[in-house]
Amino acid sequence: MASSDQIRLLLIEDVPQVAQYVRGLLVSQSQIKLLDVLTDGGQALAQVPEVRPDVVIVDALLQGRIKGLQVVKQLHESGAGVPVIVLTVPQQPVNVDPDGGILGVLSMPFSGYDLISRVTQVHKDHAALSERAASTTIAVFAPKGGVGKTTIAFNLAVAAARIGARTVVIDGSIQFADMRALLRVPADSPSILDLPTDRVAESDLADVIWRDPSGIDILLAPPRIEMAEMVTLRDVEKVLSLLRKLYDIVVIDMSMALDELNLALLDRADTILEIVTYDSTTIHNTIALADTFRVIGYPPTKVQYLVNRADSSAGIDPADLFRALGRAPEHQVRSDGAVVVAANNQGVPFVLSDPGAGVSQDIERVAASLVPGGRLAAVGAR
Ligand SMILES: Nc1ncnc2c1ncn2[C@@H]1O[C@H](COP(=O)(O)OP(=O)(O)O)[C@@H](O)[C@H]1O
Ligand SMILES: [Mg+2]
Repeated sequence: MASSDQIRLLLIEDVPQVAQYVRGLLVSQSQIKLLDVLTDGGQALAQVPEVRPDVVIVDALLQGRIKGLQVVKQLHESGAGVPVIVLTVPQQPVNVDPDGGILGVLSMPFSGYDLISRVTQVHKDHAALSERAASTTIAVFAPKGGVGKTTIAFNLAVAAARIGARTVVIDGSIQFADMRALLRVPADSPSILDLPTDRVAESDLADVIWRDPSGIDILLAPPRIEMAEMVTLRDVEKVLSLLRKLYDIVVIDMSMALDELNLALLDRADTILEIVTYDSTTIHNTIALADTFRVIGYPPTKVQYLVNRADSSAGIDPADLFRALGRAPEHQVRSDGAVVVAANNQGVPFVLSDPGAGVSQDIERVAASLVPGGRLAAVGAR
């Protein structure tokens, strides 16, 4: 096994016999590398950033100035971000408590198998959790058709990619495949339906992703309306969880229905970017949708409103729209038929074809606010 795949383990243990036992269990394997044994819990906080372990094991019975569970608490609260396994005895049971920083428990006596499987599992769980935290899923949704969902989803994704985020768009308009229409991809280009049904692995994904010249990746919807029926909820859920591991930003161009599939996507989104415009249908449907979201239990912060064509209120008082939203909208994008329609007709993003246009700058502002700095730091580190 390559040393970069090795799990780097730090043991905090003051009983020499236990430390020796753990060392012994790890001698004839290379999956886990024991970096060091600290006998003093007081050193943990200073040593973890130095030694950079992937996993730390702390003996709950650790004596000395700082006791075992205090070390766990300190490590957790320090934001060291390292997963901890607590070692204990049956007489002093400890429970797994991810919120308290305990990702695993090993109760003595344990075998080499117990030790290795616990360490690898905790390492894997932790990695999956951090991936999820580092990826943002934005569902572009609207209470009415034709308000600019597809246009905004596409341009927002390109703007996010331009500021350094690895970005993928899922064409969630499974029936009409709006992205296919917009980008004029060849009819035989693969879609979500070309993923194997029983399992979806990272390697399968590369063959079905459309690499757009604009620099973003797109998972297309099926090429024909009737094929939409073949897309199952399970496929979509699996695909989404996989894409979240591979991309910093997942943008979903949603269809309008509030069906099972769309609800599953909305549930999994970190942010619902709800596109609204100045018209009475939008105002009416926005209120109804906000009600539904409340019943489902979405916190108000999950939804961010974007007023598209914000400078053309067409006789509607902005105050009426804001009242329907229950607040001022988070984002506004101006109307620019010349720039937007021309770009759409060529299947290119206006943020690239006309970066100086006001409408492009509006989208760039939305992207900058939805792609937090922390994500970009993660991207830079790659
Ligand atoms: N900010 C804008 N300014 C001018 N035209 C726009 C703007 N946003 C969208 N459009 C136009 O509105 C129409 C509908 O956009 P589209 O993205 O297909 O909406 P949806 O996906 O919500 O149905 C398209 O012709 C598009 O070019
Ligand atoms: Mg659309």
